[in-house]
Amino acid sequence: MTEISSETRFLHAIEMGLGAWQWGDRVVWQFGHGYSEEDVRQAFQASLSDGIRFVDTAEIYGNGRSERLLGQFLKETDQPVLIATKFLPFPWRFGKNALPRALRGSLARIGVESVDLYQIHWPSPLMSNDTLMEGLAECVKNGLTRTVGVSNFGQSRMLAAYSSLARHNVPLASNQVHYSLLNRTVEKNGTLARSKELGIRLIAYSPIEKGLLSGKYNADSPPPGSRARNYASLLPKIGPVIKLMTEIGQDHGGKSNAQVALNWVICKGALPIPGAKNAKQAQENSGGLGWRLTEAEVIRLDETSDMIME
Ligand SMILES: NC(=O)c1ccc[n+]([C@@H]2O[C@H](COP(=O)([O-])OP(=O)(O)OC[C@H]3O[C@@H](n4cnc5c(N)ncnc54)[C@H](OP(=O)(O)O)[C@@H]3O)[C@@H](O)[C@H]2O)c1
Repeated sequence: MTEISSETRFLHAIEMGLGAWQWGDRVVWQFGHGYSEEDVRQAFQASLSDGIRFVDTAEIYGNGRSERLLGQFLKETDQPVLIATKFLPFPWRFGKNALPRALRGSLARIGVESVDLYQIHWPSPLMSNDTLMEGLAECVKNGLTRTVGVSNFGQSRMLAAYSSLARHNVPLASNQVHYSLLNRTVEKNGTLARSKELGIRLIAYSPIEKGLLSGKYNADSPPPGSRARNYASLLPKIGPVIKLMTEIGQDHGGKSNAQVALNWVICKGALPIPGAKNAKQAQENSGGLGWRLTEAEVIRLDETSDMIME
């Protein structure tokens, strides 16, 4: 077990965050149809009231709108908020200087002088790992971000990023990856275990499987937009997991399926960042905190998820 570095320790103390992809995104989330800027403002405020202090955005979300909305919302509160955003390795970006340049753009949109976590959104086929990590190290050295991380990095890339950053004396703070009861790749392939050993915080995106684990969707009533197509083969299979989550939630005094889904991620030692379109969803999601599934319940959930994902 590598000791967690003092710079990145704060991330290990965060139990849950708030995802901000929904803020302004029309491609997957249909921002402006069924939910508005006011709804996401209230989701942010409800999360803060419930003690959620960590917001995950990206320059690409809503083409910068998510970062701009975050900046607006931050001005309306005096509560401290920890901010994570992401660098997208567009094909026309190359050279380590592209990273501090892009981060300065994000900082201008958010209206802050530095963020707490700057992540590579996904690996680049064009920029080498060493160049990306050198760029991240530059961002830390220029005081533009407190810590740096990666996203969608498999185990070998994550290890390469860790070693490359170590040569600049910068710790790899996190790897943000898809992780939910309906997608356990990082658990099965050892990425989660390896990240724990190295003190890298595993940040779990889509922890409610884009709404599916709330139990409100099924094959007859699929989610709107691209999710219907992407989940067409999974939706008919999820019934047993939803049923078990409901049973377990009832045994905990009426926790919802979404709350059970989030608690399961926390029990696995990862940091879930559920997205919420409105205050109601945000409040429900923060109710995934403050209690614990038993070990036996986690095992039953694992077994049922294994059975349907075979
Ligand atoms: N690094 C990456 O490549 C990457 C990729 C994906 C996401 N992310 C990050 O991770 C965050 C979370 O992932 P995600 O947004 O993909 O998926 P998610 O958190 O699993 O699902 C969010 C969606 O589920 C529904 N929902 C949320 N709370 C609910 C509740 N309590 N009850 C019922 N429905 C609820 C809402 O959609 P409906 O109401 O429309 O169903 C919401 O938009 C994102 O916001 C983003 O910050 C990162």
